[in-house]
Amino acid sequence: MRPRRFRSFAKINLGLEVVGRRPDGYHELRTIFATVSLHDIIDLTPTRNRISVRSEHPAVPGDETNLAHRAAALMQRIAGGGAGVDIVIHKRIAVGGGLGGGSSNAAAVLRALDLMWNLGLGLEGLMEPARMLGADVPYFLFGGPALGRGRGDDIHPLDLRIDHKVLLVPGPGGVSTAQVFRRFAEDGGPSGTPSRIDSFLRRPLSPGTLRNDLERAAIAESPALAEVARRVRRAGQAAGAVLSAMSGSGSSFFLLFSDAAGRAAANRELRDAGLATVRCSFLSRRAYQNRFEIRNAG
Ligand code: C5P
Repeated sequence: MRPRRFRSFAKINLGLEVVGRRPDGYHELRTIFATVSLHDIIDLTPTRNRISVRSEHPAVPGDETNLAHRAAALMQRIAGGGAGVDIVIHKRIAVGGGLGGGSSNAAAVLRALDLMWNLGLGLEGLMEPARMLGADVPYFLFGGPALGRGRGDDIHPLDLRIDHKVLLVPGPGGVSTAQVFRRFAEDGGPSGTPSRIDSFLRRPLSPGTLRNDLERAAIAESPALAEVARRVRRAGQAAGAVLSAMSGSGSSFFLLFSDAAGRAAANRELRDAGLATVRCSFLSRRAYQNRFEIRNAG
């Protein structure tokens, strides 16, 4: 049978604030998610019962520990058995990069199987399985600009037009989310300073004031990350970036520019310094939905 082919987009966090500690041990967050055009491609082929996952990327697990596999297993349970799927992930989003790649893949499998198996769950019905899979998965059901609260899984879509040019700098990896939150807590936890996200949302003129509260902890955990952060910041400053920040708990950084020339200059400098970069653009919520399936695949 021919596979159906889907795009699984990456996100960046335009600002990430840690507001407090929750009774469940997680941290209370406030963050603005935004989808960028960088994406993995996922091929799904229906099977009789079997669920399998594979990828040519060595860091993507080929077993049931893969979040995409767990997403398919959840959907199989909801469907009441009798259908399976072979999942092939063509990886382009940096793994462990704070770009939500694994969560995006899982959400894509949820959405795609809802379509392929005619379950009719829709956004509402997929919310619960998404939450069970991880804090970032619910966001990827929506896409586009959205405010995330709670563990990051309480999603409020935003009518925000962001059209800055994005330059992504996938980081060296190697720092786990849990490690970064632990270091953040050890270093004193939430600072209690006023939310810049709140003031940005009241007057969304420039994202330049937004901050990522986890950046210091991530840098403290990894000298390699500290070096990337320094180079990205310097290139951004020289080329007139509007914002230079880390995404999620790292290890990717990004620069935002109001014009392509600034981005091109920073891109040259970072590449000359031996860093990989990805130029991309933001996606609206509508574009995120419309560009999900790639038709005529095969
Ligand atoms: O959501 P994810 O499984 O990636 O989170 C990994 C770890 O990061 C959690 O087990 C928790 O220790 C920490 N975390 C947190 N607060 C959040 C999200 C994650 O403390 N909102």
